[in-house]
Amino acid sequence: MTAEMEKAALSSTFFTDASVSSLAATLHAECFTPSWDEDAFRSALAIPGTVLQILACDETPVAFALYRRMFEEAEILTLGTRPAFRGRRLAATLLREGQTYLAALQVERLFLEVGAQNTPARRLYSSMGFKEIGRRAGYYLHGDRSEDAIIMLKNLH
Ligand SMILES: CC(C)(COP(=O)(O)OP(=O)(O)OC[C@H]1O[C@@H](n2cnc3c(N)ncnc32)[C@H](O)[C@@H]1OP(=O)(O)O)[C@@H](O)C(=O)NCCC(=O)NCCS
Repeated sequence: MTAEMEKAALSSTFFTDASVSSLAATLHAECFTPSWDEDAFRSALAIPGTVLQILACDETPVAFALYRRMFEEAEILTLGTRPAFRGRRLAATLLREGQTYLAALQVERLFLEVGAQNTPARRLYSSMGFKEIGRRAGYYLHGDRSEDAIIMLKNLH
């Protein structure tokens, strides 16, 4: 990130249609292996209550999150900051703006699952006030290795 970008305006846009599925897949591929393709985002966004957030620095997309909302609860389905932009508190900004958006829709509880060994993500969520409420042993499979999933919750009101 350049000095100009650090001074540039950050803003979130929230999409409930599939128009940004291609962009979402591109961003996801920078953050995850294996990644979700465009069809996966189209299918996810076809389910009512699903919303995609893109955080942009001026015109440049830098981070994204996909949420699913059901009445007063919501879940983070996936979230990432592009590698070139990490360590600038962009995910923290993304999450803060995402929580404001969801809270305005009367969402009271926001859930997520994170890999037990994903230290950056766990520190991010802890620093944002999420609390660990459960653990699924061996939930994620990476070849012949497994990883626990930590379930976290934040009350938004
Ligand atoms: C996790 C991820 C979203 C963090 O994005 P980011 O924009 O770099 O995060 P931020 O700069 O907003 O950091 C917020 C907090 O997270 C923690 N953090 C972020 N990167 C970290 C790292 N590499 N190591 C340790 N802690 C880290 C810090 O505690 C930071 O808080 P601080 O500023 O008080 O130190 C990013 O690393 C990512 O996209 N990873 C790959 C995808 C992923 O794992 N997504 C989460 C799936 S549940």
